[in-house]
Amino acid sequence: MATRTAKAPAAPKAAKTAKAVAKGTAAADAKRARYAELGKLLSSLPCPQALLAVQAGDATDIAAVTAMWVSYDPVIIAVYLRPGMRTHELVNQSRQFTINVVDEAQNAKALLAGSIKGDDPTKLDKLALRLEPAESVGSPRVVGAAASYECRVLKVAACGDHDLFLGLVTGWNVRKGGKPVVRYGGRSHSVGAELEGPLVKYPH
Ligand SMILES: Cc1cc2nc3c(=O)[nH]c(=O)nc-3n(C[C@H](O)[C@H](O)[C@H](O)COP(=O)(O)O)c2cc1C
Repeated sequence: MATRTAKAPAAPKAAKTAKAVAKGTAAADAKRARYAELGKLLSSLPCPQALLAVQAGDATDIAAVTAMWVSYDPVIIAVYLRPGMRTHELVNQSRQFTINVVDEAQNAKALLAGSIKGDDPTKLDKLALRLEPAESVGSPRVVGAAASYECRVLKVAACGDHDLFLGLVTGWNVRKGGKPVVRYGGRSHSVGAELEGPLVKYPH
């Protein structure tokens, strides 16, 4: 009798747990569906595809990112990093990084960099990218990039599910003949043909 009484409350609790699991799964499915939808939406905004390289103390890491320019004078560019990423942590520590616009020849390596979490100690070996010292910051540049920008962190702002890092560009290198890669529609693209139209300069 005592055993039956003790067991009785366990059944509703177990049922509730199963319900909670089902609710959790439904919420996860809904989140995945929403992310798929938002992924389609935001992949309609073409962005330069780049490799962010950062050195903080003895640690070096590289991640695939998209980037955008913000200011001409001084030159400021923006990158958006997800909190929890190792590169996010290292940039926060060292307050400097380089942005290297991916060249077509480097695309496969860039996509690999975007799939390996930085706590993998073999990541840099797997990427087999050549690095060289930058002139004005402690993070390396990626050899063969279409362009490299050496950045000091100017500001960090929490923006939704990413943090916005504004990088003051203190040095740069644009490679003659470089073929920059653009991210669009969830895929990497080369830059297309120039279109007909009047020459309109910006900034005015
Ligand atoms: C093409 C491409 C673009 C990416 N852009 C970004 C980005 O802008 N911001 C971001 O936080 N992660 C971005 N990622 C994901 C990171 O590169 C990926 O999570 C990487 O493994 C992070 O490495 P880490 O953990 O060493 O920082 C992108 C991935 C790819 C493939």
